[in-house]
Amino acid sequence: MLEPSIVKDEEVEYLIRDVYDLYGYDFSRYSRASFKRRVNRLCLIDKFTSFAELRYTIITEPDYLKRFVEEITVNVTEMFRDPLFFKEIREQILPHLGTFPLIRIWVAGCSTGEEAYSMAILLKEAGLYDKCLIYGTDLNPSVLEQARSGVFPIQQMKQYSENYILSGGKKDFSEYYTANYDSVQFDKSLQKKLILSTHNLVSDSSFNSFQLIICRNVLIYFEKDLQERVFKLFDDSLENLGYLALGSKETLRFSNLKKSYETVSEQKIWKKTEHQ
Ligand SMILES: C[S@@+](CC[C@H](N)C(=O)[O-])C[C@H]1O[C@@H](n2cnc3c(N)ncnc32)[C@H](O)[C@@H]1O
Repeated sequence: MLEPSIVKDEEVEYLIRDVYDLYGYDFSRYSRASFKRRVNRLCLIDKFTSFAELRYTIITEPDYLKRFVEEITVNVTEMFRDPLFFKEIREQILPHLGTFPLIRIWVAGCSTGEEAYSMAILLKEAGLYDKCLIYGTDLNPSVLEQARSGVFPIQQMKQYSENYILSGGKKDFSEYYTANYDSVQFDKSLQKKLILSTHNLVSDSSFNSFQLIICRNVLIYFEKDLQERVFKLFDDSLENLGYLALGSKETLRFSNLKKSYETVSEQKIWKKTEHQ
């Protein structure tokens, strides 16, 4: 089995080139340190005896690509993750969005959909669900399949329920799902306004205009120039006076676009101010 540090820098470059040339996935502007760690991890989990073997498998077995993308991209997520963020959305942002005739929200890099379901719950509780549309996108089709099913492991519900309460939720969280042995099925009504589709932040363009874009814990994996590309994409996709929400370790502060935005609060939420 490979030693953890055996994958060399130049080999990682070959791999990135192969994956792009053969399959069109561009990882060239992902943070190298984290990308390399994930490649090492994949080699260990899938028991490749050399880096060349991993590369050969990727080149010759198109089906393995799916597994590669799944393991290279980090899919960790949870419902009402960082509850104070959702409290802020609930208390400060939704009352303003409620003044629009239709509320379009884009959850970019939504992974298995927990953030999108959390938003559906917030909108229901604010009485705004009927006039909203939530677009959940990710580059990884496998996580979107899970998001579509609305089925999540039951052991996560305790944590989700605590997060929900800290976010200002007043109901019993279990009202939103039906338990079934070791999993739960979220209420189908939470999927009614949810549109899930693949979208790659590296290469795809804007596809609609939104009043709120949420993209959390995705940009941390990108180098600065790719982050800037994504900010431009979000700016093109955000209506004037709309909101952009990032993860706790992400910021718009160093972007050229910062001048068109103002901070809303302690949380990583910015409001677009510039009128074009
Ligand atoms: C750590 S998860 C974050 C999930 C959720 N936003 C949250 O904060 O809980 C990062 C997600 O970004 C997705 N991702 C990575 N690169 C992407 C890209 N280029 N375009 C779209 N999504 C991407 C991954 O597939 C993964 O599902």
